[in-house]
Amino acid sequence: MSKITVSTLNKMKAEQQKITALTAYDASFAKLFHDNGVDVILVGDSLGMVLQGGDDTLAVTNQDIAYHTRSVRAGSRELFVIADMPFMTYSNPAESCKNAAELMRAGANMVKLEGGEWLYDSIVALTQQGIPVCGHLGLTPQSVHVFGGFKIQGRGAEQAQKMISDAKALEAAGAQMIVLECIPTELAKLITEAVSIPTIGIGAGNQTDGQILVMHDLVGISAGYIPKFSKNFLLETGNMPDAVKKYCNDVKSGAFPSTEHEFK
Ligand code: KIV
Ligand code: NA
Repeated sequence: MSKITVSTLNKMKAEQQKITALTAYDASFAKLFHDNGVDVILVGDSLGMVLQGGDDTLAVTNQDIAYHTRSVRAGSRELFVIADMPFMTYSNPAESCKNAAELMRAGANMVKLEGGEWLYDSIVALTQQGIPVCGHLGLTPQSVHVFGGFKIQGRGAEQAQKMISDAKALEAAGAQMIVLECIPTELAKLITEAVSIPTIGIGAGNQTDGQILVMHDLVGISAGYIPKFSKNFLLETGNMPDAVKKYCNDVKSGAFPSTEHEFK
C-alpha cells in the first residue's frame, strides 16, 4: 500500500471514499492492519483501559503514548499514525507543543486532542509549528467524570448546535480531521457537511467520512463490555487478516455501522 498523507485523506473525503481506521499499540498489529486495508492507525489513550486495565483513560501519560507510538511506527514507515494527547497534557499552547513534539518525534504524523472551541489557541500554535491536529468531539472519554459516565452526547438542539460550532472552530484553528464519538447519526451527518476536513466516527452512524474502532472491540476481547456501536468481526471470519479485511470492506461499502450500531 502506498503512503497515506493528509492530502490523501482530504481527497478521500472529496471523492466520498470512506476512510478506515483502527487503534493499534504495537508494531505487529499496526503492520497487519495496514497490510489488510486500514488507512489510519490511532495510538489511542484507550490503551489505559484495554492494555493497562483501567476504568478510564485518565492515568495514561505522554510517555505511555510515546512508547506505543514508537512501537507502532516500527511496524512500517508507510503508516499514517495519529497519537492521542493524554489527559491534562494540552492545557495551554506551550504545554501542548512540548508534549505533542515528543509524540511527533516518536513517529506520529498527527496528534489528537479532545475538546471544542477552548482548544483554539493550542491548535493554532501546534499547526503553526508543523504539527497536524485531529479534534475529537462528543463522548470525549477524558471528561467521563464531568459527563457522569460513558454516555451518548449531543442530544437536544442546544448541545447539537454547540457541537457544530465547536467543529467549525476546530477547522478554523487548523485541525485537519475530527473524530466524532457516540453522538446521534443525524448530528454526525450535519457536522460532516459543515466542515471540509474529514470526520471519523465511532458510535456516530455511517454518515461520517470514515470509521474507527478500538482493535480489542473488533476482535471481541475487550476486558470490559463490548459497546453497542461495536462489532466482533473475528466471530464471522475466524482469523485476524480476514476480520480486518471484512471491517474495511464493510466500512467502505457503508454496511458498517448499520442501524443496530447507531444512536438516533
Ligand atoms: O483512545 C481511543 O481509542 C480513541 C478512539 C476510540 C477514537 O480515542
Ligand atoms: Na482516545
